[in-house]
Amino acid sequence: MKVSVHLDLLPVTADSAPVVHSLYLNCPTYIALIGAETPTLNDIRRELETLRHDTRRQALLLLHEDHVVGFLDYKVAYPDLHSATISLLLIDESLQGRGLGKAAVEQLETLLKGRMDRLYAVVYGSNEQAKRFWEKVGFSHLRDSGPTLSWYLKPLK
Ligand code: ACO
Repeated sequence: MKVSVHLDLLPVTADSAPVVHSLYLNCPTYIALIGAETPTLNDIRRELETLRHDTRRQALLLLHEDHVVGFLDYKVAYPDLHSATISLLLIDESLQGRGLGKAAVEQLETLLKGRMDRLYAVVYGSNEQAKRFWEKVGFSHLRDSGPTLSWYLKPLK
């Protein structure tokens, strides 16, 4: 029997920039896959500052047994009032494939149930692993917006 993982979900603050930065540094395969430059600490500081000004956007550190294992960025009431959209779920590369991503999605669903009717996930780039993951955790492919964005959907009711 698989034991489900419990994560603590901690809202990021301006002080979280170094830990979020380390997480990105620990995910070189993902950064290469999306063709991005490795972000600097200042890039992350700016990004978290942008997040702070958007009250609908929620960024969470994912902690497992007091260790930061991932990052989750989603937006409530987007693209419509009754939906939320995940723009990034990032699990430390050395810890992927151990049920942490699935636990994060399940806990987010529990948090949103009763408030939101639908949960979207937007996959950037040709990230086939991510697409398989979203399907595995119960999302269905909805549409592609151009060649680089794929929308996945899971009803929350
Ligand atoms: N191919 C097929 N199945 C997969 C894959 C894969 N590449 N990755 C995970 N799964 C399956 C697992 O087998 C598991 O199935 P099971 O429950 O039947 O055993 C299920 O999905 C859950 O797997 P987890 O171990 O919870 O996945 P993980 O902790 O590795 O999290 C994630 C998945 C978030 C994609 C992680 O690997 C990651 O951070 N990757 C790099 C960043 C990334 O691509 N994030 C997603 C971007 S898109 C977005 O966030 C909207």
